[in-house]
Amino acid sequence: MESSLPYSAYFSSADDYITSLASFTASPFFRRLVGGVHILDFFTSEPPLYESLLPLDWREYFDTKSIDEILGFLLRVDLSTTRPEGVPDSLYEFARKIQRHELSRKFIIDPNSSDGAEDKHKLNRQRRLATGMNDKKLHEVEHFARYLSTLLKSIASDPSRTGDAITHLVDFGSGQSYLSRILASAPHNLDLVAVESKASNIEAGKALDARVGLGRISKGKTLKESLGSASDSDQKKGSITYVQHMIKDESMKEVLDALQESNERDSASKDPGLMIISLHSCGNLIHHAINSLLVNEEVKAVAIVGCCYNLMTDRSGPTYKPPYQKYTPSPNAPIPSTCLNHHFPLSARLATESATLNITARMMACQAPRNWTPETSSDFFKRHFYRALLQRIFFDNEVLSATEPLIIGSLRKSAYDCFYEYVTAAVKKILNASTDPNAGSGVAEGVKVRILSKGLDKITKEAIKEYEVRYRNGLKQLSVLWTLMAVSAGCVESLIVADRWCYLVESGKCRAVRVESAFDYAVSPRNLVVVGVK
Ligand SMILES: C[S@@+](CC[C@H](N)C(=O)[O-])C[C@H]1O[C@@H](n2cnc3c(N)ncnc32)[C@H](O)[C@@H]1O
Repeated sequence: MESSLPYSAYFSSADDYITSLASFTASPFFRRLVGGVHILDFFTSEPPLYESLLPLDWREYFDTKSIDEILGFLLRVDLSTTRPEGVPDSLYEFARKIQRHELSRKFIIDPNSSDGAEDKHKLNRQRRLATGMNDKKLHEVEHFARYLSTLLKSIASDPSRTGDAITHLVDFGSGQSYLSRILASAPHNLDLVAVESKASNIEAGKALDARVGLGRISKGKTLKESLGSASDSDQKKGSITYVQHMIKDESMKEVLDALQESNERDSASKDPGLMIISLHSCGNLIHHAINSLLVNEEVKAVAIVGCCYNLMTDRSGPTYKPPYQKYTPSPNAPIPSTCLNHHFPLSARLATESATLNITARMMACQAPRNWTPETSSDFFKRHFYRALLQRIFFDNEVLSATEPLIIGSLRKSAYDCFYEYVTAAVKKILNASTDPNAGSGVAEGVKVRILSKGLDKITKEAIKEYEVRYRNGLKQLSVLWTLMAVSAGCVESLIVADRWCYLVESGKCRAVRVESAFDYAVSPRNLVVVGVK
């Protein structure tokens, strides 16, 4: 079996890497930093989070550095070759381990492909095909489509696979089918099944298909013909068959039924050979795709890029940040699978290491600190600071207990002009929120009553100023802690991806298992594709 995982050259083998990654991410300090604490509790925890979590010599070092210097040290210096002056030993070791354990996300554009500057915006110029996509989505789908096309060609040209052809790509969680549409269009011209839970997305996708002349009637060539060398204009377009379905497990019944129905209608007699693809599949959708590969004869390969790790479930059951445990957590939605595990960790390898990730750790894994700029980072440091300081105001006024969560949601941009604006806008929003306990952003009636009885709806500028003065060191300290949390969470994403890789390898059913960067992290950070070919 051919297998590759982009781990650091520091490790002698994938096994060596995974053992070390599992041990590092299970260490008590790492677990406290990523998943054990919540930034909302920054000013209400006792003893203070910053002091209780970070060793004194780290804090003293951070006191001497600006936040930009700290970001530079953690994110931009190669710590395997450079040791910045004055960094305490344990901080240097910790930061070095983070860098060492992160999977490489280096995106290498094939120099032999026609991927020069001229080609880069080719799709962009085909405005109708790019309709609805922003630059980020366009980058993802162009590069991922090219990646998939190359992968398909390599599978098709494997002489040992006779009679095992891939006839259709199945796009799991296809959204508005941007990826499917590119793949069904020239130069790819492939046949796809787009599976999506939301009817509105499917309708929007079909409307966009119509704009580029894609319809089911355009079917009529084999995958081999699609991958051949005929010019774009000579080739028939591919097709997209839509299936509205909420994928809950490894079953491919809905997809196979839809294909059979469309083949009967078109009098085609194709034995389906499927490759599941997915771009930014939420949570467990990747797990369902991998399990589908392992149990369905018709599924020959998967090439899937994950995201939204917060929506993924964990084998250990419902997991919430520690302070939330005093609330009754709702159970994991039961997954109607008869035999397969669909929760993290999938692999026996990481289950044996007792790897587990709570919701906070999984949310942190969705960060992209290497893409932060001084402007973007200072903006969200301020947002976290304002929110945490408001929590302190609520705590002091007995509106909430120290770690009680309260979702405020988004506020208008001008609310972040200064802390007074923020507090007044947030309080107004809370008072206007629904009290329906089933509403996503509902607020308990008691919270509103306490805000009013404490007069927080009329809080003065002086009272707000007092908080800003009292917690004036808080912004820098919170920024340091948030940065450490986000940087460390890169290893959480690596653990999740390594688990998927291990599971495919362990299955013994694949001839190739790979993890690679399908596009540029700087443009779209969830860029690691997990590939399995039977
Ligand atoms: C992050 S979006 C990505 C959409 C699309 N792949 C793209 O890159 O533009 C994830 C999509 O998956 C769909 N989805 C999530 N879970 C699903 C499930 N279990 N079954 C089917 N669709 C699902 C969502 O409705 C959403 O449209």
